[in-house]
Amino acid sequence: MLPTLESLDEGLGGLDGRRILLRADFNVPLGADGQIADDFRIKAALPTIRWLSQQGAAVTACSHLGRPDGKPDPQYTLAPVQARLGELAPGVELLENLRFDPGETGNDDRLVQQLVDGCDGYVNDAFGASHRAHASIMGPPGYLPGAAGRLLAKEAEVLLGLRAKPKRPFVAVLGGAKVSDKLGVIDALLETADEVVIGGGMCFTFLAALGHSVGGSLLQSDQIEACARLLGSGAPIRLPSDITALAPGERVVQAGVELRPDWRGLDIGPGTAAEFSDLIAEAGTVLWNGPMGLFEDPRFAAGTKVVAQALADSRAFTVVGGGDSAAAVRQFGFDREMDHVSTGGGASLELIEQGDLPGLRALRESIGTREEDSNG
Ligand code: 3PG
Repeated sequence: MLPTLESLDEGLGGLDGRRILLRADFNVPLGADGQIADDFRIKAALPTIRWLSQQGAAVTACSHLGRPDGKPDPQYTLAPVQARLGELAPGVELLENLRFDPGETGNDDRLVQQLVDGCDGYVNDAFGASHRAHASIMGPPGYLPGAAGRLLAKEAEVLLGLRAKPKRPFVAVLGGAKVSDKLGVIDALLETADEVVIGGGMCFTFLAALGHSVGGSLLQSDQIEACARLLGSGAPIRLPSDITALAPGERVVQAGVELRPDWRGLDIGPGTAAEFSDLIAEAGTVLWNGPMGLFEDPRFAAGTKVVAQALADSRAFTVVGGGDSAAAVRQFGFDREMDHVSTGGGASLELIEQGDLPGLRALRESIGTREEDSNG
């Protein structure tokens, strides 16, 4: 069990006048103009911030942004986030990008001590960063009583619920470019899902494993054997039966699963999109992670859009993994139709795969929540 905000309140004898260090994931996408392109991760932290403020706590928030090299870099300043946060939650202090200090990714105790100085409690609401064993995630609960924020608690409940007790049939729809990034999660999902449906760039390595010619499509030759093993195990894996491809002369062609050498598959075909939609319509639970094609290009967005629409129309409990699929759902305007859109890309995959995250473990072992503490 993760310690809750209520248990933190109780443990500290009330939060009024207390200073709380809040680790959030404000790693927002920035446009070419340096402005915030999508503020969903800031909005996602508001329920926690508002609850803390209502209890009378003073909130000092901290986050990373991008991957600066352990030193200040104006490209990655949190100043635009601070301005937006000031509008949405006035009065919350925000520290500068944690990764300007090499101690953050190095999980350095020196930085941890600096962060916790003057604080009475710690709240982790940075679900998207909780798979990183970094200083601000791992260190503070060793010095301060810790709790999961509302967002972190919800993400953990929903994603662990998929592993434990999904409403059946449970259909997992996986896409994205690289099969090597997803093999672990496919393995884990095959333990619990009734059907694992595969599209996106990674479907070509599976199709190649079945002996199909995939032309110039994305292919990870070193993963063909692993894909063949999975397919040969009789696992309930569903692959595309048609493909939308790009042919020489910028021609968009509809094909089956045998592509000519100079064709590049860039989306699932309309027949496949319809088959996948039927499975989604009949499901009790759907997890979707990874686009079905190159959806940023309108010529290859149809597969992703049809799948997103099918989730939006489905009566199933629908969960969208973070990263590209969450971005696609927002781009198509379907985000409100989903039961849960995760704010974590890598974190949601790792939680489904491993059943735990370093940041969750650190909170469970937080001072004030460990068994030896509660036993006196
Ligand atoms: C994310 O965007 O997935 C999180 O903020 C983690 O960022 P990172 O991959 O740079 O650690």
